[in-house]
Amino acid sequence: EDCKKKKIEDYVRSIPDFPQEGIIFRDVTSILEDADGFALAVDSMQKLLEGVDVDVIVGTESRGFIFGAPIAYNLHKPLVLVRKKGKLPCETVEQSYDLEYGSAVIEMHKDSIKPGQKVVIVDDLIATGGTVEAAAKLIEGLGGEVVKLVFLMELAGLKGREKLEKYDVQSVICYEGK
Ligand code: PRP
Ligand code: MG
Repeated sequence: EDCKKKKIEDYVRSIPDFPQEGIIFRDVTSILEDADGFALAVDSMQKLLEGVDVDVIVGTESRGFIFGAPIAYNLHKPLVLVRKKGKLPCETVEQSYDLEYGSAVIEMHKDSIKPGQKVVIVDDLIATGGTVEAAAKLIEGLGGEVVKLVFLMELAGLKGREKLEKYDVQSVICYEGK
């Protein structure tokens, strides 16, 4: 292998003590702002879907859209948006989930998933897993089957994987801390 070839880790800017002391923020913008970094990120995530039988890609607002969209386009699959409450115009289902402080609500259009469809959820990052757990509940409530969750980055110290143990979770890069 070419040892000079950049890996996806090389494109991630890590900012200590943002947004709070003790947290190392893994910045997705430094990947996106490099054309090779963005391409490598999308390709690496898409590689995790090789051989996966999928009908629909779901992206979670907002950073999940960045990666969900090119993957859905490349696979020629529909892209369904999970949005923060109040953004979707038609009939929706909603789910609340916990944040570090307080909670938030996400929504999907009721008719965006048909019963029996195989769904892959895409997001940039799994931290506590709360966001995608809420998305999975919505998908399952509409009769969809969550066949896989794909992330670019994983913060293993927050144990999102444990919360999502009944699902097939894969990430491109894993950081040990929070
Ligand atoms: C961030 C990130 C993931 C989520 C991960 O989104 O993009 O979606 O948090 O955290 P969790 O695993 O603990 O749920 P954020 O809610 O900050 O919004 P954004 O995507 O709109 O930036
Ligand atoms: Mg997000």
